[in-house]
Amino acid sequence: MRIVATISETRKAVRAARAEGKTIGLVPTMGALHAAHLALMSRAREECGSVVVSVFVNPTQFGPTDNFEQYPRDLESDAAKAASAGVDLIFAPSAAEIYPAGFDAWVEVGGLTGILEGASRPGHFRGVTTVVAKLFNIVGPDRAYFGMKDYQQLKAIQKMVRDLDFPIEIVPVPTVREPDGLAMSSRNAYLSTEERTAATVLHRALKVAEELVNAGERDPEKVREAALGLIRSEPLADVDYVALVDPETLQAQRRVERPALVALAVRVGQTRLIDNMLIEFPR
Ligand code: PAJ
Repeated sequence: MRIVATISETRKAVRAARAEGKTIGLVPTMGALHAAHLALMSRAREECGSVVVSVFVNPTQFGPTDNFEQYPRDLESDAAKAASAGVDLIFAPSAAEIYPAGFDAWVEVGGLTGILEGASRPGHFRGVTTVVAKLFNIVGPDRAYFGMKDYQQLKAIQKMVRDLDFPIEIVPVPTVREPDGLAMSSRNAYLSTEERTAATVLHRALKVAEELVNAGERDPEKVREAALGLIRSEPLADVDYVALVDPETLQAQRRVERPALVALAVRVGQTRLIDNMLIEFPR
């Protein structure tokens, strides 16, 4: 496995892999790799001749209160994990390599980026789609892998790819969870022992919503209230939103009658966590 920091070295390495007839898989990350990131890499390893992982803590997707400086950075340990997952190349650029002085061109997806996470984090998705568009142009992959844990991010990227004709297949990878249901996230490391226990309320709330819908409840407000009630019973948790939405448009559903997505954001102590669940109806 090689580690490179520049766009030109990345292009050269990808050209060499292509010359050997290999397909290219890209897994964009911000580092602090955990088992869920490795699941994306293993999937790419199975499906592609050459696997590229980007490690870049992207400043433009962090808001003023988002702790950009404190985001964990440990390239050495990330590289060891990526190597164990069979990755061929790590692209770990500096901020100046990605955003040289005077940088001022942005990729913005309308509609679905103004709601849910977009409403709570203005500018966040513009930063995500801009850096992912750049990574797509730098690496030129056949396939790129994204986790369903960040469902809205996945949808924004799929829309960007469709609307701007990137010749790239976006592969969604199911959410990887801890044994107690908590979705894996770099942010889980910020939780104290008590907060870590409280954080299981996100997945429990999603399960409550799912059970209600499976039992026949079709009023989205009733489903929301049940999930909200559970979260409010957890003293260390402070709910930001619970939403029942159409899984494609992310618009609120008036009646739960199609596959539905339950999405939520909850602050546990100082740490904001998100999770979601697709509810497909029993036949
Ligand atoms: P990061 O948070 O490092 O996540 C990298 C990828 O791992 C994303 O596609 C994310 O959805 C996926 N992922 C994280 N936790 C997961 C889990 N528990 N289960 C499944 N997939 C999971 O997301 C980003 O970085 C950035 O926004 C990025 C796309 C790299 C752009 O900067």
